[in-house]
Amino acid sequence: MSASPLIARTVPALRRAVDNLRKRKATIALVPTMGALHDGHVSLVRLAKRRASRVVVSIFVNPTQFAPTEDFGAYPRTWKSDIAKLAAEDVDIVWHPGVAAMYPEGFATRIAPEGPALAGLEDRFRPHFFGGVATVVGKLFTQVRPDVAIFGEKDFQQLRVVTQMARDLDLGVKVIGSRTVRERDGLAMSSRNVYLSPEERQTAIVLYRAMRESAGRIRAGDSIAPAMAGGADMVKAAGLVLDYYEVRHAETLAPVTSRKDGPLRILVAAKLGTTRLIDNMAV
Ligand code: PAF
Repeated sequence: MSASPLIARTVPALRRAVDNLRKRKATIALVPTMGALHDGHVSLVRLAKRRASRVVVSIFVNPTQFAPTEDFGAYPRTWKSDIAKLAAEDVDIVWHPGVAAMYPEGFATRIAPEGPALAGLEDRFRPHFFGGVATVVGKLFTQVRPDVAIFGEKDFQQLRVVTQMARDLDLGVKVIGSRTVRERDGLAMSSRNVYLSPEERQTAIVLYRAMRESAGRIRAGDSIAPAMAGGADMVKAAGLVLDYYEVRHAETLAPVTSRKDGPLRILVAAKLGTTRLIDNMAV
């Protein structure tokens, strides 16, 4: 049977636990999460175990990355099953601060990322989001001081933002992206999929199908504009409301007009009923 991970709830307790690992010459991987763990998170933990000798998973639903109109209060919280999953993966430490430990009274500093954080994708629809993510991830990095940190490619713009931040601020952490884990029918795993009704769950597959269609056409030599318009039409015809359906340079997230403009990534965000879904795919 696997041992339960050590659970740290304050910065001093976390530091003691991490220092103990460091004394034993451990290398440390951090997997930042907001809990509601699914197989996608488990795959991040497994990659972390391959990249370091010890693994810290943070579980913190970060209020500063939610707008007042968003689902902070309703965000799924599944503590017991999260800990059981992490114990089964032999995770060493779970970092689970309360809001007051992360943002103590008088907290007044914020990281304001630019570059990929202003690419005109998620930032256009959630202008508060990357400031909140960068601030909390910056704190997680300085609290845990990991050698590597693992982020899912599912939140592709977020992955680019934290990679850039770690480099720009010399945080000494290597950021590693992990491939999106999908359900058998192609839907990307996400903690927010629990919001979907059974019918919406069926409809949601269209995002994957549309991206596969557009990527296939671009790879086959079609021009970008019609290939992307075809995919966007599929999503809209299924009844989703598109925020964006775009192809960008996979590293800079700059707009592209031709396949020759570099490695390409299709990125999509759409609302299905009241649930907002995002996904992306390499071309
Ligand atoms: O991707 C997430 O779950 C969150 O945005 C993160 C990186 C844990 C920061 O709160």
